Amino acid sequence: MNILFIGDIVGRPGRKIVKTLLKEIIREEAIDFVVANGENAAGGFGLTLEVCHELLDAGIDVITLGNHTWDNRDIHRVLEEVDCVVRPANYPEGTPGSGYYLAESQTGMLVGVINLMGQVYLDPLACPFRTADQCVNILKKKTHIILVDMHAEATSEKVAMGWHLDGQVTAVLGTHTHIATADARILPQGTGYITDVGMTGPRDSVLGIKPEIVLEKFLTKRPVRFELAGGPVELNGVVIEANEYGLATAIRRIHRMLE
Ligand SMILES: [Fe+2]
Ligand SMILES: [Fe+2]
Repeated sequence: MNILFIGDIVGRPGRKIVKTLLKEIIREEAIDFVVANGENAAGGFGLTLEVCHELLDAGIDVITLGNHTWDNRDIHRVLEEVDCVVRPANYPEGTPGSGYYLAESQTGMLVGVINLMGQVYLDPLACPFRTADQCVNILKKKTHIILVDMHAEATSEKVAMGWHLDGQVTAVLGTHTHIATADARILPQGTGYITDVGMTGPRDSVLGIKPEIVLEKFLTKRPVRFELAGGPVELNGVVIEANEYGLATAIRRIHRMLE
């Protein structure tokens, strides 16, 4: 089974490249299942119901989130109405929505998706490692194919999650930093791993935002109003090949551009 994971989709440019190229990538790479991080999909901040349906119509099966989950109030409608959108599982008990989801691919395969958020330099939520174990135990009863979006800032925390879940899940994919890392590999017990998948959005930017605005913030130390950058758009993703035991047999990065 071939799975595509798309890194943080940023605003309209990110959605545009997904809508333009996803069907083609699915064909070329014989993809059976698509997961994407959508925490920045609506104008760079959060997710709306309309944007969510736009992404699902483009061919995405499950959308994961992160620290920007609550940026747009419409997320409450999304989490109420759309099962295949998951927010970090380690939010406090009683938080709307779910941190994991069991989906069915076009070919009838069951795929579990877990979203976790790191604690280092981010809101201190429940322990992502113990939360991961709980979610894996639930999903393991239904399927061996399990994907984990580890939404975190610190590379150490992300790679530690890879080792923690090695052999337990199909892949641990890092998101949040918007900068793709060159360490895609299969861990010794068969889990595919990458520290960060990278961003799907405006290339000539600082994490999706106009460079001059971010520079103003760094140079003046005063608040600024973020605006998405224009220009060429990139898509960063990872393709994972999984065997019948739910272990990764290959993992490779993909990168596409739209001028
Ligand atoms: Fe992001
Ligand atoms: Fe994030």
